[in-house]
Amino acid sequence: MIGVNIGKTKVVELDDAVEDYLVSARSLAPAADYLVVNVSSPNTPGLRLLQNVETLRPLLRAVGDAADESAGRHVPLLVKIAPDLSDEDIDDVARLALDLKLDGIIATNTTIGREGLVTDPGKVDACGAGGLSGAPLKARSLEVLRRLKAAVGEGLVLIAVGGVQSAADVQERLDAGATLVQGYTAFLYEGPFWAAGINRALAKRRS
Ligand SMILES: Cc1cc2nc3c(=O)[nH]c(=O)nc-3n(C[C@H](O)[C@H](O)[C@H](O)COP(=O)(O)O)c2cc1C
Repeated sequence: MIGVNIGKTKVVELDDAVEDYLVSARSLAPAADYLVVNVSSPNTPGLRLLQNVETLRPLLRAVGDAADESAGRHVPLLVKIAPDLSDEDIDDVARLALDLKLDGIIATNTTIGREGLVTDPGKVDACGAGGLSGAPLKARSLEVLRRLKAAVGEGLVLIAVGGVQSAADVQERLDAGATLVQGYTAFLYEGPFWAAGINRALAKRRS
């Protein structure tokens, strides 16, 4: 299954963001089993401002139309959100996704927060700005998932990502209402057999 994730190009001004997403959507939708609108990467200046529902509504509508038209079929459309949104903003995005009949939400991207780290704060500062992934993200990602599930019920696919490392973490996300679970950081640290190992452990838990 190929999930295609699109975000605004760094050099494009925020005012031109919609057209930029449309170029990506038209080019890539024909190859996608599902398409994700990423409005949550902290590494592209201004990108996360697009999570505001007034901006997000026309963006998602336009990308969905362009993707379906370009692919000649319905391309399932999801939006990927940041863990740094307030609870009220999460509820707003959930309502918007239901209203627009999106196919799902991916929660979450990396965080701009630096809480709970054991590394010396000076060293952390020296690393500079940018998104933090992996274990420090786990609790908030799970919280966001639970909040989304409470808001959307069975109405949308929820893809959980953020600090997932073990089979127990995956089970916890499934129990919290995730339809699918993704991992980035654990895959990076544990290597190409990471997902297969999780699947084996999950199967064992169930037998
Ligand atoms: C180096 C790096 C690059 C990333 N690039 C993207 C990206 O281009 N688009 C996106 O939606 N998320 C991106 N992410 C976020 C991950 O897909 C994922 O949502 C996040 O890292 C949380 O999952 P994890 O804790 O399993 O890493 C990136 C994360 C890292 C660490």
